[in-house]
Amino acid sequence: MTLYGVGLGPGQADLVTVRGKRALEDADVVYSPGRLSRSVATEHVPEARIGDLDFPMTRDEEKLRAAWKEAAAEIATTARDGDAAFVTLGDPNVYSTFGHLRRTLAAFHPEVDLEVVPGVSAVTAFATALGVEITAGSSLALREADGGRSPTGPDRMVLFKVTDAPSTHTGLVEAGYDVTYGRRLFMEQGETLVTDDPTAIDERDYYTLAYAEKPEARVEQATDAFLEASDESGLVSDGGAQDIARQERSEGVLCGDEPGGDRQ
Ligand SMILES: C[S@@+](CC[C@H](N)C(=O)[O-])C[C@H]1O[C@@H](n2cnc3c(N)ncnc32)[C@H](O)[C@@H]1O
Repeated sequence: MTLYGVGLGPGQADLVTVRGKRALEDADVVYSPGRLSRSVATEHVPEARIGDLDFPMTRDEEKLRAAWKEAAAEIATTARDGDAAFVTLGDPNVYSTFGHLRRTLAAFHPEVDLEVVPGVSAVTAFATALGVEITAGSSLALREADGGRSPTGPDRMVLFKVTDAPSTHTGLVEAGYDVTYGRRLFMEQGETLVTDDPTAIDERDYYTLAYAEKPEARVEQATDAFLEASDESGLVSDGGAQDIARQERSEGVLCGDEPGGDRQ
């Protein structure tokens, strides 16, 4: 009847959404494309309901197409008589294997209904794990940095696939970025590491990302005035309160949270 593409989040079982958990519990078979996603899925459904799919470790497009055709045929058979789920780490629509499945089903099994349950992606989870705030008014780009590459240009970047941190670091620092690395964030499997020292993570681990920011790109926020107004004891005086309220209101108008026009 339906195939649910379920995002499992970064790896900790309690970061699966309530809707995702329900889809997993209701599915007749939960298909998993890898070992890590399987270990998260088994926190929510018994092993007996997990269906493993075999994908060759190859870039050969012919072999990949053949593997996806086979996987889609099996999933379509299950989804014809009941409900199936296909899980991916993070979000199914962000740099994910799920796209291959969606395209293959659309081509060969268009009768299968598809529903996607979004997951907590590393694209957003990194901010909490690394203690970073992407403030209103700033921009953020997503890039890949596999094989030691150092993409540059945007003021702020999340870099996926940081497999050679020391080489990537050299290029980023030369281009004027401050860089923080995160490995196995919100994951139960393996050690979580957050560091700005690339030599601390020089061993290759696919589940590594980086956040790179140009220091001069910081966007002033209305509430920064609280910190400027605080005295040595750390207490905030009421100096500037009117200005702050006015700035916050106009920020709300910009973001569409407050009605605009002449309202004061
Ligand atoms: C193919 S992408 C999959 C992204 C996933 N669909 C998502 O939405 O988070 C894999 C890359 O995401 C990053 N990544 C995913 N989960 C991570 C985690 N828990 N900790 C650190 N990096 C992670 C790594 O850079 C990894 O190379």
